[in-house]
Amino acid sequence: MDDADFYDAMQRARSRGARGAAMVVDAGVGLLAAAAGIVAAAGTLAVLHPILLPLLLVSVLPAGWAAAHSARMQYQVIYMLSTSMRRQWILSDLMADRRPAAEIRAFGMRDFLLQQYDDVARVSENAHIGLAGRQALARITGEATSGIVGGLVYAALCVLLATGVVPLAIAGGAILAIRMGRSSLSELIRAANGVYDEGLYFSDYLDFCEEAERRRSQRRPDLLAPQFAGIELREVSFAYPGADRTALRNISLTIGKGEVIALVGENGSGKTTLAKIIAGLYEPDSGTILWDGTSLARLDPGAVRQKIAMIPQDHTPWPLTARQNIAAGADADDDAMISAAELAGIHRTIQELPEGYDTLLDPRFKAGHELSGGQWQRVAAARAFYRRAPLLLCDEPTSALDPRAEHAFFEAVRHSAHADPTDPQTVVLITHRLTSVLMADKIYVLSEGCLAESGTHTELLQAGGIYAALFKLQAEAYTP
Ligand SMILES: Nc1ncnc2c1ncn2[C@@H]1O[C@H](COP(=O)(O)OP(=O)(O)OP(=O)(O)O)[C@@H](O)[C@H]1O
Ligand SMILES: [Mg+2]
Repeated sequence: MDDADFYDAMQRARSRGARGAAMVVDAGVGLLAAAAGIVAAAGTLAVLHPILLPLLLVSVLPAGWAAAHSARMQYQVIYMLSTSMRRQWILSDLMADRRPAAEIRAFGMRDFLLQQYDDVARVSENAHIGLAGRQALARITGEATSGIVGGLVYAALCVLLATGVVPLAIAGGAILAIRMGRSSLSELIRAANGVYDEGLYFSDYLDFCEEAERRRSQRRPDLLAPQFAGIELREVSFAYPGADRTALRNISLTIGKGEVIALVGENGSGKTTLAKIIAGLYEPDSGTILWDGTSLARLDPGAVRQKIAMIPQDHTPWPLTARQNIAAGADADDDAMISAAELAGIHRTIQELPEGYDTLLDPRFKAGHELSGGQWQRVAAARAFYRRAPLLLCDEPTSALDPRAEHAFFEAVRHSAHADPTDPQTVVLITHRLTSVLMADKIYVLSEGCLAESGTHTELLQAGGIYAALFKLQAEAYTP
């Protein structure tokens, strides 16, 4: 999802690809029908006089070439315009969507966005106008040549008639057969073009499916022990596809079972990327990640993800009911759901909704209900708590929460982590609220993708590095 080329291919596949299969079949049936007509006409002509048959074929070929050439040019233009058409879609979706509406109005962005849309649309319009011109030229050339050759066929027939090679009755029959043959040949060419044209899109679609299949994480044997024991990263480096700088460089760290570790650092320092690497959502370019002592590369990704609960920085407000939002596709167990929602501080809010846990959380639909930003973040937390996974990754879990809710959240994490003393939960916490990282057993400080410092809060304060500077800055803001 981070690769622009993949997005372009996916757009082409979504817009025309799958539909192409039905079109290819339709055109294929037309092709067979036209072929039957030609066989009939060709048989008649061959019986009447053998020279008439090649003449008939020659008269239709130029038009056939023109149609195939025109389809090819159209495919090339659509291929070339993939990116700009995707941009056009994105812009039009944004302008017609509910979430950006307030910002568009508040910043008066309407005309600007329309202008952006027009600019992109103009590129596409110009390309299509150019294409139409080239297509018209190819068609005119093809049809005109076919017409001239058709005239020659009739002239040849006249010559044959005049020289007495064929009698009048046969010439009359030949004219009918030629007309029928020409119309069947045109139909055949049209259908063959359809197969070719739609076949281009369909084969593009098949290529995309193959590429998507190649990119799917491979199923591997599930070698994970039932009890999570810890994670070790050794010299892990990672760059996003197409990015010119590495997002993470030579990161080595260990996370023991039941530990609470905190990742801190400035914006863009690589915290979210590191959390996603730990969760196995990205594969590192170099280095190893060991889960319970086994390299992540040897483990089944699905089995690893089963052991992770995540509160992502950019959580999704799913247009589903509150229950479905929390269960996230898992079986809904009411008691577990209520306790997860209570831990996340969202149970009362959901209970007070018109349909309780069955209320649809999307105001774009009748009886749909909207939550506030902080309430959505609590739903995201409830989703993670409900999963009861041995590893909990929290990426800025309290960025939208009020102070009381934030305090309650960290209490909840502490409670959730130690709910079962024999099997404590491991927590990776990413936050800019440095007072909240005091609860961490170990703090890792990232800077420009590198691990700059690590230690406990006290050790890092004594070291007087980045962490100490950031902490002092925040502490001063709260000291009168
Ligand atoms: N999908 C992506 N594709 C390309 N580059 C990315 C992508 N996501 C992040 N980056 C880049 O990787 C670097 C690290 O980003 P990351 O999101 O890990 O930072 P972060 O420490 O979580 O920042 P923040 O505190 O703002 O959440 C940044 O320079 C960012 O521009
Ligand atoms: Mg982040």
